[in-house]
Amino acid sequence: MKGVVLISGSGSNLQSIIDNASIIDLKIEAVISNNKDAFGLQRAQKSNTPTHSIDHKSFSSREKFDQRLSQLIDQYNPDIIILAGFMRILTAEFTQKYTGKIINIHPSLLPKFQGLNTHQRALDAGEKEHGASVHFVTSELDGGPIIAQSSVEVLIEDTVESLAKRVLIEEHKLFPKVIHWYTQGRLKLSGSNATLDGKIL
Ligand code: GRF
Repeated sequence: MKGVVLISGSGSNLQSIIDNASIIDLKIEAVISNNKDAFGLQRAQKSNTPTHSIDHKSFSSREKFDQRLSQLIDQYNPDIIILAGFMRILTAEFTQKYTGKIINIHPSLLPKFQGLNTHQRALDAGEKEHGASVHFVTSELDGGPIIAQSSVEVLIEDTVESLAKRVLIEEHKLFPKVIHWYTQGRLKLSGSNATLDGKIL
């Protein structure tokens, strides 16, 4: 299957997808960033993947940025759009256009801690467990149907950095696994549920 990956930063999740691409039957057609300095763009170039950056600040509205993004994505006619640390809120127009084809990884055990600063918030809340979730993207920020989660124990001595590091290790395993379900045609969005082999997740 053909995928387009959207990033904004370091791209360590992108790297795990690149490293597993042949195993998970994914051809990464392009990597697109809203931040031209995203280190992930260098990772993509190293693997000879076409890259694009579109600076959201040069658009007068969120709608106009999303329209440009969508135009670019459509050039590649992808089967799946993968948000791997893409730090932009997408318009409903955009998410609805690609319903069932966009997935996102989020660093919390959703529905807990939607939005930013998830590790700090998990520590502040005294959570015993924290982790990451992969979900289908809908117009509700971090609110679409959850596909899979991976958890880590929160340790007394944890800092934001140490916790983020352990969660990222889980993300790098979880995301390729879920993408593989999708490329195998096993994972679908059915109404408001994610299903695997026809069973609600
Ligand atoms: C990850 O924690 C991901 O869950 C979140 O943003 C971070 C991106 O990290 N959406 P990286 O750019 O993949 O290293």
